[in-house]
Amino acid sequence: MPDLFSPVTVGKWTLPNRIAMAPMTRSRADASGVPSEATATYYRQRATAGLIITEGVQPSATGQGYSNTPGLHTRRQVGGWRAVADGVHEEGGHIVAQIMHAGRISHPDNKNGHETVAPTALAAPGEMFTPSGPRPHPVPRALTTAEIPSVIEEYADSARAAVEAGLDGIELHGANGYLIHQFLAPSTNHHTDAYGGSTTGRARFAIDLATAVADHRASTCTERSRTTRPKPLRPTALSSTRSPRWGSPTCTPSVTPPHPCSPTSGPASTARSSLTTVGTR
Ligand SMILES: Cc1cc2nc3c(=O)[nH]c(=O)nc-3n(C[C@H](O)[C@H](O)[C@H](O)COP(=O)(O)O)c2cc1C
Repeated sequence: MPDLFSPVTVGKWTLPNRIAMAPMTRSRADASGVPSEATATYYRQRATAGLIITEGVQPSATGQGYSNTPGLHTRRQVGGWRAVADGVHEEGGHIVAQIMHAGRISHPDNKNGHETVAPTALAAPGEMFTPSGPRPHPVPRALTTAEIPSVIEEYADSARAAVEAGLDGIELHGANGYLIHQFLAPSTNHHTDAYGGSTTGRARFAIDLATAVADHRASTCTERSRTTRPKPLRPTALSSTRSPRWGSPTCTPSVTPPHPCSPTSGPASTARSSLTTVGTR
């Protein structure tokens, strides 16, 4: 019987052992969400784990929840993640980025004044740590039906940026009260359009974005085989006006335990939802 320290094959990867490091928000990025030297050192030091899942990484400035968390939506952020990926690979490790849009679990003071959005204009119970101390969660602006596809594209662009940075894959954070979970939960999703109502409607956001991420990955792989370079990042993730694709998920779901920073009451904090990991090499 294999022990914890024996190699294991997971898809295309051969991991040196069966230990995976759970995602943990560290707040070591700079004020622009660029992973710092301390971030690179932190992950390099832990690269002997078979697989590292990074802290939650925002796919857009709006998607940031806590202060000094890293993003994957600007060129400088991609450069910061490149240093992280190189360090982990030099030590023989594998690392995937956890893409996490915090939705209403956020505060403008933590993200240079950017607004907070969620499926519905309902504040989360409790408070959020900010640089000037704990503050009540703000009432988010409700996302309109028309703009939801552009938020989905933010995730897909971020996944592409992860590939460009040399990370080994991505995980979609679908639990713990953040944006995907806010769409899944009837308590936080009062949409009466295609993204709300029935279980199918509430799951649509998660399914569409998993599909969009997988599609980006497929196009990246195709381009790689042609040119060996992934497509460059679009200037802003929010500029997309593309329509959603109504496909079925192509990735394998798994389950994660709750985040201790999550809100402590209501179905949005107690339900568990799926995560998706997409390998890129
Ligand atoms: C400080 C801290 C930060 C965390 N940040 C994240 C995160 O960014 N993403 C996530 O999915 N889980 C996050 N978690 C949850 C952990 O990954 C883990 O699921 C949780 O701590 C339960 O595991 P444990 O019982 O071994 O502590 C965080 C946990 C802690 C303690």
